Amino acid sequence: MSTLTVVGTQWGDEGKGKVIDLLASQCDMVCRYQGGANAGHTVIVGDKQFIFHLIPSGILHPDKKCIIGNGVVIDPISLFEEIESLRKGGIECEKRLFISDRAHVILSYHKLLDKIKDEARGSMKIGTTGRGIGTTYIDKISRIGIRLSDLMDRDTFRKKLEINLKEKNHLLESFYGKTKVRAEDIEKEYLPYAEKFRPYIADTSLMINEAISKKQKVLFEGAQGTFLDIDFGTYPYVTSSSPVAGGVCIGAGVGPTKIDKVLGVAKAYTTRVGEGPLPTQFEPQFEEKMRIKGKEYGATTLRPRRCGWFDAVAVRYASIVNGLDRLAITKLDVLDELDKIKIAVAYEYKGKRLTTFPSLLKEIEEARPIYEEVDGWNTSTRGIVRFQDLPQKAKEYLDRISKLIGIDISIISIGPKRSETIIVEENLLGA
Ligand code: IMP
Repeated sequence: MSTLTVVGTQWGDEGKGKVIDLLASQCDMVCRYQGGANAGHTVIVGDKQFIFHLIPSGILHPDKKCIIGNGVVIDPISLFEEIESLRKGGIECEKRLFISDRAHVILSYHKLLDKIKDEARGSMKIGTTGRGIGTTYIDKISRIGIRLSDLMDRDTFRKKLEINLKEKNHLLESFYGKTKVRAEDIEKEYLPYAEKFRPYIADTSLMINEAISKKQKVLFEGAQGTFLDIDFGTYPYVTSSSPVAGGVCIGAGVGPTKIDKVLGVAKAYTTRVGEGPLPTQFEPQFEEKMRIKGKEYGATTLRPRRCGWFDAVAVRYASIVNGLDRLAITKLDVLDELDKIKIAVAYEYKGKRLTTFPSLLKEIEEARPIYEEVDGWNTSTRGIVRFQDLPQKAKEYLDRISKLIGIDISIISIGPKRSETIIVEENLLGA
């Protein structure tokens, strides 16, 4: 076994960053395959806190190679800032970070249009991160996108820019009443990044496949989560990429026969940032209490996250579409002080019991969760390192989740630090 894919099973922010950081010590290479700087992982090592948007958190382990795959959309400004901030924290990226020459580039007009377009949706606003993710993927699919290899070639970059701007400026001026964007300004702003990034550019698909053929251990890091997936999420309140495990094949250039195991990460409850349905959302007062306890504010936009009970209907669906082998449950400690805890085991819609996640938005919005109530453990779990030492009720809660999803739990996180983790199954990437 040499590859492991880590995916979010909810609406993102499941704590994948910490899980990946832990597993990175067991592997040779960590690879991002979709999304962009809309993601935000926070990893705490000792007294230092690192926030990652684009670079795989595996970079914190000095002997690991990190890859940003072709499926990722790259904001050069944000990426450069991240490289610099890691350098200031004592971490060098050169010769360890490799960026796909096929990855598409986010330019300032993508970010501008992302914000304007979302505002213009009015009551159907998605609440995007405003990072130009959707607008860059639109260009990619429309076959007018600008890839990193284009940015590296001044003539190609200018030519593509001019073609693109004809359409964008028409949209900006005539439809949105904004000032137009000049190719010279974009060129001036972004061309310097071509040189800054040249040492990092590679055909990363070849690198990953070579590592796999040498039996090195490769970890694929998903950003966002299953219910933000463009196909399987709560469409249209989703992101524009494929965070599900299948996204690895396209976004990293790896065949499906090379994906060995998939680990799904789920919070012990549920959160969501941005618009769109969240069936198990708490009532406002309790939500605020849990938000404060769980420090539920977005790592990228600092927006307050919406919070709710664990939704087994959703995570069970995620286990199917991702082909999950194992689960990691995070932030169990946030539930430490509760007398009673609820788990959604099904939904009720127009008198019918639903046990799988619906596709029709109206159905998801109007479905009422059917809850099972279990006893809380009402005591601190912080500092516990062995599963058997957890309070009996906490073990029962985890067992119930595992049974409802039909997947064994390998990792339990009970705090933000590396040490605050219960490893139920060692060597997820094989011995
Ligand atoms: P976009 O990805 O910026 O287009 O945003 C689309 C939706 O996905 C919005 O609801 C965002 O709040 C949400 N989203 C995007 N990235 C993340 C993430 O990393 N964690 C949680 N939500 C995210």
